[in-house]
Amino acid sequence: MNPALRRVTLDARMESTTFRTLSDVVLAIAADHEVDSVLQRIVHSARELGGARYAALGIPDGEGAFASFITSGMSDELIEAMGPLPRTHGMLGAMLQSPEPQLTDDITADPRFRGWWPRAHPMMRSFLGVPIVARGEIIGAIYLTVKEGGGQFTEEDQRLIGLLAAHAAIAIENARLHERSRELSIVEERNRLARDLHDSVTQRLFGVKLAAESALTLLNRDACAAGVELKRVSDLAREAMEELRAVVFELRPASLEAEGLATVLRKHVEVLRRVTGQEIDLKVCEVPRLSPQCATQVLRIAQEALSNALRHADATRIEVRLNGHTLTVTDDGVGFDPAGPEVRGQRLGLTSMEERATEAGGSLTVRSEHGLGTTVRLELAP
Ligand SMILES: Nc1ncnc2c1ncn2[C@@H]1O[C@H](COP(=O)(O)OP(=O)(O)O)[C@@H](O)[C@H]1O
Ligand SMILES: [Mg+2]
Repeated sequence: MNPALRRVTLDARMESTTFRTLSDVVLAIAADHEVDSVLQRIVHSARELGGARYAALGIPDGEGAFASFITSGMSDELIEAMGPLPRTHGMLGAMLQSPEPQLTDDITADPRFRGWWPRAHPMMRSFLGVPIVARGEIIGAIYLTVKEGGGQFTEEDQRLIGLLAAHAAIAIENARLHERSRELSIVEERNRLARDLHDSVTQRLFGVKLAAESALTLLNRDACAAGVELKRVSDLAREAMEELRAVVFELRPASLEAEGLATVLRKHVEVLRRVTGQEIDLKVCEVPRLSPQCATQVLRIAQEALSNALRHADATRIEVRLNGHTLTVTDDGVGFDPAGPEVRGQRLGLTSMEERATEAGGSLTVRSEHGLGTTVRLELAP
């Protein structure tokens, strides 16, 4: 075959593989809503299209590290051996600073190269880095290194990876929008639950009141009919309790990471206030920065202390304060002797609060006296 003609056919075949790979990626982005798997595909395709031994896609967390760093061409063993994820410094950081791609035949010669790699890091010289830009903002980068066959990456590679980066930008943006709308619907869902709770529990309690009144009226005239009414009282009360428990449980856990301790606490107090009619005053003076585990413990302690104050204290006023690393729940109710014999036998709630405090690396004190109310105080280590 005429050499020129052969080149054309070869080019055409290459082009068609390239287009197939590209169109596969685009279709995958459209079909797949799981952003990580879309990005994984993009990285694989980038490696394939660029003819690189290794490829990666990094999304910075804004604090000097990568929130995710998805690789292709690296075995799990190699990743394991290299140790922790790279940080967004040196050459990896360069693509996050400026929207310009970086193409070099030897990264180790670049002034931004820090001069060393972790022990198990493979030798890398040829390098292509392309930023992922969405609406003028650099949200990540695609990296290729070690051109197969020992050559360098080309302008053509850079152009192709640029295309993939544009698709990666769409996938990441979509995922973020999706996440935001999910958060919004969680908030809506919670508000709906609180409303439902209020409506259904109020209705049931109203039923309890009516049935109890009928039972009272019937008591002397028709003991049997009074019994039927009392049975209704008991059923309705049980239903109300179950409903309350279910909804409070639903309102509780998932939101903590999304909404933060202060908001979840505020919602919990709001629900209790509506359901019990009890005055509860919540003030958050300073929101502490806590790990999710720690925040969960603080929330559970607050919930138990509140539930005790509501059930046992007969208080006119309950105060909840979250001030930095200190949480207090105070009531002006009947008080009790925390070490007293009546409490000693059954103090599951008090004990679990103490255990949670210890788990969160803090300490719990319960100050209470008959007639003088109760204060539960949680101090976390700063
Ligand atoms: N705020 C409070 N006011 C009055 N008594 C309380 C208060 N908190 C706890 N108590 C007393 O301590 C006991 C033990 O509380 P707890 O361990 O939470 O168990 P439970 O709430 O299941 O009874 C309660 O039964 C109650 O007598
Ligand atoms: Mg209790």
